[in-house]
Amino acid sequence: MKFSFSSKQFYCMSLPFRCMNIVTTVIKSRHSVRKFKTDKVDETVIRDAIECASLAPTARNIQPWLFGIIRNPVMLANIAELTENGKFIAESFVCFAVFGEKNEMFYLEDCCAATENLILALQAYGVASCWVAGDKKSYAEPVRNLLNVPEKYTLVSLVAAGNPAEITISKKKDERHIVFYEEFKID
Ligand SMILES: Cc1cc2nc3c(=O)[nH]c(=O)nc-3n(C[C@H](O)[C@H](O)[C@H](O)COP(=O)(O)O)c2cc1C
Repeated sequence: MKFSFSSKQFYCMSLPFRCMNIVTTVIKSRHSVRKFKTDKVDETVIRDAIECASLAPTARNIQPWLFGIIRNPVMLANIAELTENGKFIAESFVCFAVFGEKNEMFYLEDCCAATENLILALQAYGVASCWVAGDKKSYAEPVRNLLNVPEKYTLVSLVAAGNPAEITISKKKDERHIVFYEEFKID
C-alpha cells in the first residue's frame, strides 16, 4: 500500500508531535533500570511494545528479527544465570530476547533499532527496562538453545523489564564533546 503526501501535508500531520514533544520526553525520561517491583506488566503493554519493535527501520525492509517474550520465573532465572552482567533478569517481570537472522547483512543494525523501539515503547507506558548484551557474547548460543530458537537466528539483545523499584541516572557526555557542525575541528 502506498500513500503520498505533499511536504505541507506531512508537516501538518507532524505538528501535534512537534508541539507536545511526546517522543522526546519519553526518550529523555528513559534510564537503564536493574531493580524491579514484582507487580505485573499488562499484556496490552507487552503487545504494543512488540508491535513498536517490529515497526523499526530495517534495511531493504527485510525485518530479520524474531522476538521472544519470557515471563516464566524459572526461565528468567535460567537466562540470567547464563549472562555475565544480566543477573537481574531473574528479578524482572518479563525479559524480551531479540534474535536476528545472521545471514542477513544488516541484521545487527535492524535488531538494535528494534530493541531501542521496544525499550522506548515500554518507557512510554512507564515500564522500565535494561538492555543486556547478546551479540558477541559467549552466552548467545546457550540462550538460543535454551529458548529452542532455530539455528539461523543469533541473539542480539535481551531486555529485562518491569515496574521500576530503583532508578539510577547515568552521567552523559557534554554536547560539546560529541557534536560537530559541518566539519570536525580540534580546539
Ligand atoms: C549494546 C548494549 C549492551 C548492554 N549490555 C548491558 C549488560 O549486559 N548489562 C547491563 O547491566 N547493562 C547493559 N547495557 C546498558 C548500559 O549499561 C546503559 O545503557 C549505560 O550504562 C547507560 O545508562 P542509561 O541506559 O541509563 O542511559 C547495555 C547497553 C547496550 C546499548
